[in-house]
This record gives sequence, C-alpha cells and structure tokens, in this order.
Amino acid sequence: MGERDDAGTKRLMATLPIDVADYDPFSQAVMEAPLPFYEVLRAKAPALFLPRYDTWVFSRFQDVFDVLTVGGNAFIATDTTLPTPEILSRHNGGEVQELPLDPLPIGAMMGSPHFEVLRNAHIKPFRPRAVRALAEFVHNLAERRLDELLPRKTFDLTQDYGGHVTASVICHLLDMPLARAGEVLDLVNSLSRTDPEAGGTDVPTIIGHCVGIMSEYVARRRHAGADGSVALIDGLIQLGYYGRPLTDAEIATQLTCVFIGGVETVPKIAAHGLMELNQAPGQLDAVRADLAARVPVAVEEMIRFCAPAQWFARTAHKDVEVAGAKVRKGQRIIALFGSAARDPTEFEDPDRFVWNRKIARVLSFGTGQHYCIGIHLARLELRILVETFLRRAKRFSFDRDRAVRLPSSFQWGWNELPVIIEEHAA
Ligand code: HEM
Repeated sequence: MGERDDAGTKRLMATLPIDVADYDPFSQAVMEAPLPFYEVLRAKAPALFLPRYDTWVFSRFQDVFDVLTVGGNAFIATDTTLPTPEILSRHNGGEVQELPLDPLPIGAMMGSPHFEVLRNAHIKPFRPRAVRALAEFVHNLAERRLDELLPRKTFDLTQDYGGHVTASVICHLLDMPLARAGEVLDLVNSLSRTDPEAGGTDVPTIIGHCVGIMSEYVARRRHAGADGSVALIDGLIQLGYYGRPLTDAEIATQLTCVFIGGVETVPKIAAHGLMELNQAPGQLDAVRADLAARVPVAVEEMIRFCAPAQWFARTAHKDVEVAGAKVRKGQRIIALFGSAARDPTEFEDPDRFVWNRKIARVLSFGTGQHYCIGIHLARLELRILVETFLRRAKRFSFDRDRAVRLPSSFQWGWNELPVIIEEHAA
C-alpha cells in the first residue's frame, strides 16, 4: 500500500466510520480493503471474539506472535489453516477430533509429533545450503524470462515475470518438465481467485488437480528407486515412520502446501515491492546505487509491506489463556498476519514503505511450529527477481488502471500488475 493506497484508506475511514462489529473476515468490504478494519481492531478489540464463527481474532503483532508460539499441541489446524465461513459456522461445542492417520492428512493440519515427522521428511531442499545451490538456476530463469518480456514493452510483472520463475522452480524441485510451469501457475492462481462469499472457486477440485499432477511424478520417483536425488519427493517415499509406505496420493497431498505456497506469494511481493520502490521518491535511486548490497535490505521491507496472506487459523485442543483471551477447547483462533505487519507498536509509521527501515522481527512467514518451510527460497527468489529486473529495466512505470487486486480473505495481493518498460538494457 503506497501513497495512493494510503490516501484511499484515509478517505475510506473518513467517509465510512468502521465499527468493530462490522468486522467479518469474509465480508466483501473487509476482503476489498482490510487495513482500515485492522487499525480499528488493533485499537479497540485486539482479541475479538466472533460468536457466529466461535472464533477469536488477534490483530496486534505481539499477540499474533504469542498465540502462534503457544506449545504443547494447544492449537492445531484440525479445521484447516484456511477454514471457509461454512466450516467456522459449524461450532465444535468443546469437542475436537483427532484426525485419523490413514489416509494421512496434510501436515499443516497436524500437531506434534506427526507434523515434525512429515516436515523433516521433505525439508532438505529448503535448507539454506540447498537453496544457495539453486541461485544460478533461478538467476538464469529470471534472465531468460526478461529476454523474452522486455522487448514487449508491457507485460504483467506479477504473473509473466515472477509467476513464471517461481512456478518453474517448483517444477524443478518436483522433477517436472519446466514446460509445465504455465499450467502450474494457472492452477495455483485459480485457487487464489477464490471468493468465499460468492461460493467462488471449487477449492477441493483444484487441490485434487494439484494432487493428481504431483502423484504422477511421485510414482515415477518410486519407480526410479527414490535415491534421494529429488529430495522433495524421495524423502517422503523413504519415510518409514508410519509402519507402512505412504501412498503416492498421500505424498502428493503433503506437497500441496509447497506447490501452492511456492508459487503464489513471491510473485505478488516482487511486483508490488517494485511498484512501491518506483513510486517512492528517492527510494528507487537509493537502491539502484548499490543493487547487490541494497536489494536484500529492500526485500525485507517488501516482505513486511507486501506479503499478501492475511490470516491463518488454528483450533484450540485445550483451554488456553493467551493475549488477553480465554480460548476454550474447540474454539478457533485467527492470527491476522496482515494486521501484525501494520502494527505501529512494532513498526514506526507502518503504512509507509521505507526500503531500509529497521525490522527487528517479522511475522510474514509465520512463527512457531508451522513457520514457512520455504523462507530461504522465498528470500533468494525475491532478491534475484528484484535485482535482475532493476539491472535490466532502466526506466519503468505501472499501468494502475489495468492492475488487479482481487478481494480476498486470504491472498490479498496484486494478482496482475502491468508494467510499462520505458528503457531497458539488452
Ligand atoms: C515471501 C514468500 C512467502 C511468504 C510470505 C510465506 C508465508 C508463509 C506463512 C505465513 C506460513 C505459515 C502458515 C501458518 O502459520 O499456518 C507459511 C507456511 C508455509 N509455506 Fe510459505 N511463504 C512464502 C513462500 C513460500 C515458498 C517459496 C514455499 C515453498 C517453496 C512455501 C511453502 C510453505 C509451506 C509448505 C508452508 C507450511 C509449513 C508447514 O506447515 O510445515 N512458502 N508460509
């Protein structure tokens, strides 16, 4: 949210006084412009109980941090990390179901020890050293993409550039042909176009497609002996913990988080971040003055300011007192990441993009047990996408009239951001 969006927000707040009672994470008004609601929540109801959904909503940075770091399997996402209004409207009535282990549910919905077992079985390609080894590959992808895009003079910076690069990286990690990157990108994008109020996209069907695509490559790895050379898949094939091999579909199900998380977030942050830099007087010049040293700094502010995920949920598996709330067993909590990133008690003047601001802590990748497995890869991709673009696009602007930021309770980011290239290097 830059100068123009800030002005829009202030206007909205002036003409439409927002009351705490107006907050519903799925309402059209919130999904279109959540920030004014967050400001009111942080000030007036930092631990808000929504009786309709039997759910607590936490909006302050420190509270989100505290809620996510409660241990002892107190909060587990058994109602999924992104429950729909229908799921939240069905109250648990003080009871919680332990999820059956056959077939194995997705790790994100599980507590200890299952969650860690599954995470550790496919974390290898996301460790810092493995990610560093991908730098040249990602850099080449970015360069080749710009070879194609820059001569066109205008293209969608979110999807045509970052989207293609991140989808290609996911194909590479799954040992899929890079030629399928466009298909992967479209599939993942069709998910974030979900509009829960309108009934929107059929999420289970799309997830089913993701699982179907990946199952084929899991079967190939199993057939080839799963020797560890495709660590993302092979680690899960080799997992002996459950006393039986996981099926291809179970492994593909575990990998849906990587498939989706690895494709949808980075492109929106890179494109939005470049727009913020471009429209903030002096900031772009300052970063350009030393790309190698300053892009990594600017990327941290992009991650704070532009991260599109608004919230994730958990279900209380026991009574917990945290962040001023008495959460009862069976109730749900929503951690408002989007609000935490704009909390003035954590970040000075939080609605301003400041490329080199001091950032002591960040919640954009989550925290606690389920923090983002792709954190190092995300940073690497963002640095390469931003630096390569700035090195080659000497002057550029954005066609904001054609830009698309879809209302969303989840991924509220710039889905399409047309850039106009005014001058570029070969
Ligand atoms: C800047 C980009 C990214 C941001 C801001 C981001 C943010 C997040 C957040 C907030 C969570 C925690 C969800 C929760 O607490 O329930 C998460 C989890 C996750 N992210 Fe990311 N993510 C990014 C990039 C990636 C990438 C590149 C990948 C993989 C290639 C990835 C894969 C995952 C997975 C698999 C999880 C689930 C972790 C688990 O439950 O074990 N993300 N991400």
